Amino acid sequence: MGLTFINPLGLAAGFDDSGKLLGALALCGFGSIEIGTLRTPAMLSAALTHISCHPRHARIGINLAATDTGDTDETAERWRTLMGLAWDTADYLVANLSGPRGAPVQVDSLITKVAMVGATCRSLARARGSRTPLAVKFALEQVPTAALGILRDCGVDAMIGVSTDHLVITRAVRALAPLQLISVGGVRDGKDIATRLTAGAALVQIHSVFCRRGPFFPRRMLVDLAERMMPLGGG
Ligand SMILES: Cc1cc2nc3c(=O)[nH]c(=O)nc-3n(C[C@H](O)[C@H](O)[C@H](O)COP(=O)(O)O)c2cc1C
Repeated sequence: MGLTFINPLGLAAGFDDSGKLLGALALCGFGSIEIGTLRTPAMLSAALTHISCHPRHARIGINLAATDTGDTDETAERWRTLMGLAWDTADYLVANLSGPRGAPVQVDSLITKVAMVGATCRSLARARGSRTPLAVKFALEQVPTAALGILRDCGVDAMIGVSTDHLVITRAVRALAPLQLISVGGVRDGKDIATRLTAGAALVQIHSVFCRRGPFFPRRMLVDLAERMMPLGGG
């Protein structure tokens, strides 16, 4: 995405969907915090007010989802409105295309949506004369390798792939390269982060383990990760 992060561990969307917890979350050690999913201009504007109040310790992603009205132009316009509002505040935007949990992935529809949000983001960049990277979030399971190759070329800057399956993640990293994969799903400890990074993910996000283990746990995960990634005998 053309961004640097202080560390590879991020908080996934859904924990803070309004930006109100940002002050407390900033103390937890995350390299990135994703706010959202935000679905309406009113909710997004309220969140932007909270986000703007806080100094930046971590990269801030703003996770968005526009209602699909069935009319392509109208849906694209909704994405444009949400992205345009968040453009100057977010370090990166996320188009949440992950759908309901466990629902089958409609590959053709996913490709159409990724192409739509990619085109909307490029058109905004031209209109604003500035760039805000866009990642797309979806469930990696059930998306064939050939479809990942098509998604890679849809003009977005990164993919946030939801999967707990090491083989699926490794295959996605290869199919999406040089586009980078942010891996989320089932990460429980520093070992899991190391495994995802070794598989080629650029960043890793957590949600459930943070809910279960609490605010000190991200730093413990990062210490564990550092010990694992340190060369043997290194200081
Ligand atoms: C209660 C709950 C709410 C969530 N809400 C969102 C959301 O609003 N937007 C989103 O993109 N993902 C949402 N997620 C998905 C998480 O961001 C993450 O992708 C998923 O939980 C897998 O990571 P985990 O195994 O570390 O929990 C939610 C997950 C949970 C458990």
